[in-house]
Amino acid sequence: MKEIYKNLYQFSVYIPPMDFTIHQYLLASDPAILFAAGTVQQAETVLPEIQKILGDRGLKYIFISHNESDEMGGIPVFQRAYPNVSVICSQLTARELSGLGINIDMIVKNGEENLKDGELNLKFANYPSEVHLQNGLVCIEESSGIFYSADLMLRYGNGVGNTIKSKWEDEVGNISEERVPNKRKLENLKTDLLNFAPCFVAVGHGYCIECEV
Ligand SMILES: [Fe+2]
Ligand SMILES: [Fe+2]
Repeated sequence: MKEIYKNLYQFSVYIPPMDFTIHQYLLASDPAILFAAGTVQQAETVLPEIQKILGDRGLKYIFISHNESDEMGGIPVFQRAYPNVSVICSQLTARELSGLGINIDMIVKNGEENLKDGELNLKFANYPSEVHLQNGLVCIEESSGIFYSADLMLRYGNGVGNTIKSKWEDEVGNISEERVPNKRKLENLKTDLLNFAPCFVAVGHGYCIECEV
């Protein structure tokens, strides 16, 4: 665990045979939000650390970008520890989570919507995520300037605790058809993302990015 940016804690697993890193993040704001639940195994490992950071404050939100095990697998682990926690996700993700038997309060959001609560000011963009370009989400927290990118801006390598510097426009421009293999959806995503101006990109995989101006 590392405080990788102001009040933003990174929890990571590095997988050497794949040269691949999986991250999840706790923004210990008031209220607190977790970006990605991680897999069940990761969630069980990081829960005690999260409890230590939050003390007797609750975890209010878990942001679920899309329905894959690294994003949503650990939801039940956090729900047991924080029974009042709510998941923020797209409509499709909400349906899929229900289908998987996850019975939890879900706040459904669409791109261009926002959620304001205390220090949190979240704005969302639709994210056509793998595996079937389904409607997921990514989001920026405007008070801190932190953008959670899920599988976008992904790099291979051991990204545990490591940050690189880059321009937001370049990172958006470099999102390739490998990530979003549909020209129209890719262009829409890029247009939406260029409305954001983050200071820091908390990536789901690889190296976090300090945004240069
Ligand atoms: Fe994914
Ligand atoms: Fe991922």
